Amino acid sequence: MLLRSAIHYELVVNLFYAVILSEAKNLLVNVRLTKRQSVSRGFSCFLLFTIHSLFIGVTVPAYVVPEAKGLQPGQKVIATVQGREIGVFNVAGRLHAVRNVCADQSGPLCQGDVFDRIDAEITEDRRIREVLNAGRPVIACPWHAWEYDLQTGECLWNPKYRVRVYAVEVAADGTVTVTM
Ligand code: FES
Repeated sequence: MLLRSAIHYELVVNLFYAVILSEAKNLLVNVRLTKRQSVSRGFSCFLLFTIHSLFIGVTVPAYVVPEAKGLQPGQKVIATVQGREIGVFNVAGRLHAVRNVCADQSGPLCQGDVFDRIDAEITEDRRIREVLNAGRPVIACPWHAWEYDLQTGECLWNPKYRVRVYAVEVAADGTVTVTM
């Protein structure tokens, strides 16, 4: 998971560099390229950067969260990582990390309660039945109770709102890292 995120990050960064480099070259030599030439030049730069990354290794934007080491099921910690406040939660032995800013009015989301998600479904006799969705923890903001899926960061009442969630890794010695 961590490696996959790192590779996605690397590809996006490479793409960014490629566009910048190809544009800079155009400006330096003061040549107006056709759209097709620009795209092809950008793609060549992207390939070059990607091959370079493969040789020097991918950049892993992962940061250690010392406060989260030894976190037990049911416990949480709020820490500052790279200037951002995040909460790390141990829910039934699995760690989740989420930004401590609610998408509603920037409330301190990580001070809210975590519980299992409850879904509703319509039965054949057209009744509404609630189903406990264990394994999909939800966090509720303490200010106005907006609820978010801790795995995806999606707001339950309207998926167009979301909060940042981060991939978490636990090393053999218990060190916790998050990918940002
Ligand atoms: S600030 Fe979080 S629900 Fe309003």
